[in-house]
Amino acid sequence: MFKIAVLISGGGSNLQTIIDGIENNHLNCSIEYVISDKAGTFGIERAKKHNIKTFVFEKKEYGDALSGKILEVLDGKVDLIVLAGYLSILKGDIIKRFKNRIINIHPSLIPSFCGKGMYGIKVHEKALEYGVKITGCTVHFVDEGTDTGSIIIQKAVEVHDNDTPETLQKRVLVEEHKALPEAIKLISEEKVKVEERRILINR
Ligand code: GAR
Repeated sequence: MFKIAVLISGGGSNLQTIIDGIENNHLNCSIEYVISDKAGTFGIERAKKHNIKTFVFEKKEYGDALSGKILEVLDGKVDLIVLAGYLSILKGDIIKRFKNRIINIHPSLIPSFCGKGMYGIKVHEKALEYGVKITGCTVHFVDEGTDTGSIIIQKAVEVHDNDTPETLQKRVLVEEHKALPEAIKLISEEKVKVEERRILINR
């Protein structure tokens, strides 16, 4: 069985789509752990409801040791780490140990509106401020940079004239909920081939 860990910082709607994908047999994998860098997140409640093992390692408590702590738990235990709204930056050994085995979902078409400090609603505010007509979401591998790893899947969303950051976020989230399970499925079925920056998908 393909084993994954899901890292979160908030509501966990993306985590929920993975749980649902497993329960309706769309995804042939198991969530071994859900880890949050914040206490009291709804995502942790979602995991507990499905009897998934959870850990809370607070960023404010662990600081720079956070990535090392997560590596300690996951090393040798999972095939893939999924960042589903995880807002800390993974650093150090975990990136090397899990090379091409960590994926992240970001709510824009990378390389637009990404990088340090770009997360959640801020991404959509910037997209509207810039005036792009198309935005979307990206699932990518995680490397040493912030949102710089190779792109696996992107889905586009049209920006409407009357959009607010919130309405845009809502429509992008609908696509995120398709893109993330799709990426996990492709990786678990070994259909993703990494050729330097370009990712080739054997559908
Ligand atoms: C999602 O929109 C995700 O793309 C974003 O946080 C949200 C989490 O929602 N991630 C980032 O901005 C990462 N830079 P969720 O907790 O409901 O899945």
